[in-house]
Amino acid sequence: NRGGSMIAIKNERELQAMRQACKITAAARALAGEMVRPGVSTQQIDKAVHDFIVAQGAKPSFLGYHGYPASVCISINNTVIHGIPGGYVLQEGDIVSIDVGAFYQGFHGDCAATFPCGAISTQAQKLIDVTKQSFFEGIRFATRGHRVSDISHAIQTYVESNGFSVVRSFVGHGVGAQLHEEPEVPNYGSPGRGPRLLPGMTLAIEPMINEGTYEVAWLDDDWTVVTDDGALSAHYENTFVITDGEPIILTRPLED
Ligand code: MF3
Ligand code: CO
Repeated sequence: NRGGSMIAIKNERELQAMRQACKITAAARALAGEMVRPGVSTQQIDKAVHDFIVAQGAKPSFLGYHGYPASVCISINNTVIHGIPGGYVLQEGDIVSIDVGAFYQGFHGDCAATFPCGAISTQAQKLIDVTKQSFFEGIRFATRGHRVSDISHAIQTYVESNGFSVVRSFVGHGVGAQLHEEPEVPNYGSPGRGPRLLPGMTLAIEPMINEGTYEVAWLDDDWTVVTDDGALSAHYENTFVITDGEPIILTRPLED
């Protein structure tokens, strides 16, 4: 507890566990992404990811979280987040957001990405690319002494300059012994607000970006969040640690 902040500063032992948890989480996302192709059902992906995480000696962070019934969130096309895997069979042209967490040695990793299923439209690919790049625009400000909303502002500016909109109803967050810790990390807002960033803070930045309106709605299952106008949505997230220098992405995709 520094200066009244309740944001956990992880020590080296805790960071070592975070690195392990996040490595498993990133590998789970990659595994899910490789399964995205026409004819595969979302519950097949969920089962494969569940079995992978368990085989690593970890636990799926989302399974049972506030009653969530699966190990992965799979959110297709107009679904923003928290899509529940089931009988839906992926089709050519779908965009498929995969969000996954793993709990290992007392700590969580959390990451997401949107994958194309076969050939997708140019506009859908642009949405995926802008969403991913907005994460990297935001993390440029994730350095000691910046404030949380410096990240938020950078994401919003980049996204809106590309003609897309930032979902307001959900935010990034601290991540550690709990899946969701302080602080909240919105993907929009004025710079210069919120807590100052300090080395040892572990955060997840996770822009959820819509093709049309930023407004969202809930399906009757009380989980699935969809765009209010039915247009496409994409998601990208990594867990990272603030350092004395550049932030270090802990759920690093293998190809980056
Ligand atoms: N993955 C979400 C996040 O990034 C949380 C998932 S909620 C759950 O914060 F219920 F699906 F687990
Ligand atoms: Co998250």
